[in-house]
Amino acid sequence: MANQEDIFKKVISHAKEYGYIFQSSEIYDGLSAVYDYAQNGAELKKNIREYWWRAMVQLNKNIVGIDAAILMHPTTWKASGHVDAFNDPLIDNKDSKKRYRADVLVEDYTAKIESKIEKEVKKAAKRFGDSFDKAQFLTTNQRVVEYQKKIDAILKRLGKSLENEDLADVKALIEELGIVCPVSGSTNWTDVKQFNLMFGTKLGASADSAMDLYLRPETAQGIFVNFLNVQKTGRMKIPFGIAQTGKAFRNEIVARQFIFRMREFEQMEMQFFVKPGSQKEWYEAWKENRMKWHLSLGLGEENYRFHDHEKLAHYADAATDIEFRFPFGFKELEGIHSRTDFDLSAHEKHSGKKLQYFDHEMNESYVPYVVETSIGLDRMFLAIFSHSLQEETLENNTTRTVLKLPAVLAPTKAAVLPLVKKDGLPEVAHQIVEDLKWDFNVVYDEKDAVGRRYRRQDAVGTPFCITVDHQSLEDQTVTLRHRDTMEQQRVAISEVKGIISKEVDMKSWLIKM
Ligand code: GAP
Repeated sequence: MANQEDIFKKVISHAKEYGYIFQSSEIYDGLSAVYDYAQNGAELKKNIREYWWRAMVQLNKNIVGIDAAILMHPTTWKASGHVDAFNDPLIDNKDSKKRYRADVLVEDYTAKIESKIEKEVKKAAKRFGDSFDKAQFLTTNQRVVEYQKKIDAILKRLGKSLENEDLADVKALIEELGIVCPVSGSTNWTDVKQFNLMFGTKLGASADSAMDLYLRPETAQGIFVNFLNVQKTGRMKIPFGIAQTGKAFRNEIVARQFIFRMREFEQMEMQFFVKPGSQKEWYEAWKENRMKWHLSLGLGEENYRFHDHEKLAHYADAATDIEFRFPFGFKELEGIHSRTDFDLSAHEKHSGKKLQYFDHEMNESYVPYVVETSIGLDRMFLAIFSHSLQEETLENNTTRTVLKLPAVLAPTKAAVLPLVKKDGLPEVAHQIVEDLKWDFNVVYDEKDAVGRRYRRQDAVGTPFCITVDHQSLEDQTVTLRHRDTMEQQRVAISEVKGIISKEVDMKSWLIKM
């Protein structure tokens, strides 16, 4: 079996080869951690965005969507705490001159211990068969218990040192654990320093009068500063939500793992405004709702888990991550945060404007509390794409590479293939494309043998192939081939649209939530 690194390399090269993702400005050797979405990538990304937007805005009467600007008044970021606290602890290795996030070095170390636990579990499951009780094994196996104790102790100490801004202790922890630079293999580390992740820019033409701005590091603040505008003009009653999708920018220290951690990326965020005191209940409700959204796409329940935060961000009273099993292990895909009244209160203080809601039932005004759901669109793309890319061994011992994207999200829903380039078959195929293009993205392909064309569409992730042959001329039927099962059925041309619709229609997927 291929190892994780090989699988991930395959994901990256497949994304390029099949027109999903290119390195930004590749002809100039690229820009680190910045990527362009190609013809298929842009479609997949748009479909994921729409799947989120429909679930959030269209299906919830009390959630509306906005599209705030990327550039905001600089005081926004003072109020939100980003100017003072949006830092990552960085450390350099003096031999390789490579820069790392100190906390990530420690977390990678604990992840290695975690994979040892997973190995023990796998071994035991094999040994005990059906009678294996995983929960019991995790609490009673001496070796596993010791591993877990070690992980907990390390993460507790890391959390405490970061909270107390004790960067010397973070360095001491790295040294005590004997963590080496993955490039030089040495432990020759600099001190740990804080580094602000916001990108600065300027507004205005002349150097003297120019105003220092930041590119937004999260979309959420565009929602907070518009809270009252939306509430009043939309006559929204608490509890209600404001959603938006859009670009965010972070000058990440460690930008690796392809589109997992980018410097320019897109977020899909929703702030849900609630009555103070009810935030816990809404936090739990949104945890459940968001997990259901993920599961509706059918990537497998076993590939998701919650990870509750011990160390809370400066604005939160509870927080969890929905983690996904990426090719490099379980990692954060989405954050759900109970942000208290921190942001609205801070904006009230810095702007001098009231950001309160008048509750007619209670006959009083208050600053609402906020529960936020925040997911990276690019990260969701990576989760879906990497999970969908599969190598299959077929009955005749050949292999096929297939991108089993959820059909609802696939960039192209069907490829129309005339069996041969003559005898009037291309004309029929073109007519099918003309008829279907009003409802779906469809492509026409007549090059190469039909078997090769099937493989090409499998690799690009097209859920259906429609083959026109000589029989089609006689009885107006075609062969409809299903990507995942490779099953072929003979259907009337007039039925094709209905069959495809059923499988790609967003409603039939979202209703599973
Ligand atoms: N408004 C809250 C917020 O921004 P976050 O946990 O910093 O919270 C939310 O980010 C989500 O945005 C993450 O779960 C992740 O999916 C995505 N994200 C954050 N930084 C990213 C980066 N550098 N590249 C790609 N996605 C990122």
